[in-house]
Amino acid sequence: MTAEPLGARSRTGYDAATLEALTADAERIKARYPDERSGLLPMLHLVQSVEGYVSRDGIVFCAEQLGLTAAEVSAVATFYTQYKRHPNGEYTVGVCTNTLCAVMGGDAIFDRLSQHLDVGHDETTPDGAITLERVECNAACDYAPVVMVNWEFFDNQTPESATELADRLRAGEDVAPTRGAASVCSFKAMSRVLAGFPDGRADEGVGAGDATLAGLRLARAAAAVDEPSGSGPTGAGDASSAGTPSASVVPPSAPARPDQPADEASPAPASADGAAPETGGEQSSAERTEVAPEDDEAARLPDGGKPNPEPEKGGDDD
Ligand code: FES
Repeated sequence: MTAEPLGARSRTGYDAATLEALTADAERIKARYPDERSGLLPMLHLVQSVEGYVSRDGIVFCAEQLGLTAAEVSAVATFYTQYKRHPNGEYTVGVCTNTLCAVMGGDAIFDRLSQHLDVGHDETTPDGAITLERVECNAACDYAPVVMVNWEFFDNQTPESATELADRLRAGEDVAPTRGAASVCSFKAMSRVLAGFPDGRADEGVGAGDATLAGLRLARAAAAVDEPSGSGPTGAGDASSAGTPSASVVPPSAPARPDQPADEASPAPASADGAAPETGGEQSSAERTEVAPEDDEAARLPDGGKPNPEPEKGGDDD
């Protein structure tokens, strides 16, 4: 009996080789989830990695793979702005124009780039090199104004530096992000990574830079000044003292609260040799200390996450 060609069961217009490769990758995505349809988001990135956008074929492919209707897939693909419904440029240049970046120059950068490239939001240069976008906060406000190229950070930009960056991208030159990977990959390659097929570069370069860690250094300096004389390092300091940052970065000498029973004090995390984690400098994500969510939450709450006492009831409530 002759096996039915794969394409005979698909309503997509992909050629046989593309369909076979996509189907193999889709199987890997589906295998990650107890319910296969949970794989829709990475699968949309997968089809986007083939054509540079989520085409009609991509919609149909996802629907066939996950037992959904094309309308259901389209509803998701049109909701998230990371999915493009028309051919995208080789590089998405996203200018953060959210509040902080905007006032720090993001609006001026976008306007200059728009004028320089002669394209507006979500439009692509005629050479197919750049799609310009306004983007929302990229959690890099300490480096405002920020420009992203295929989701790599270019910090502290100006209209001049951003136009130079765009010119280099259009000229096919390699550009180096401020943090993270050493170079920028193509939009299609980035989409494949977002589909969950790593390129091995996730922990390349610096993660938290100097500005991100400045507050940490101030908090640690303040903790050292506030330390009660004679208390000394006990290794059982309170990781939740007011103003103290996340438990992952609290030095072992952090003082306990005067009113804190000894059995409530939780030891600050230390490295395997007992030394405090090295912080205060630049570090990559690979060097970060794992923190249990409950510890991290306690560290951020005043009084170590203890519930606030019941507010006194006003006497004139009725
Ligand atoms: S406002 Fe631009 S990164 Fe947060």
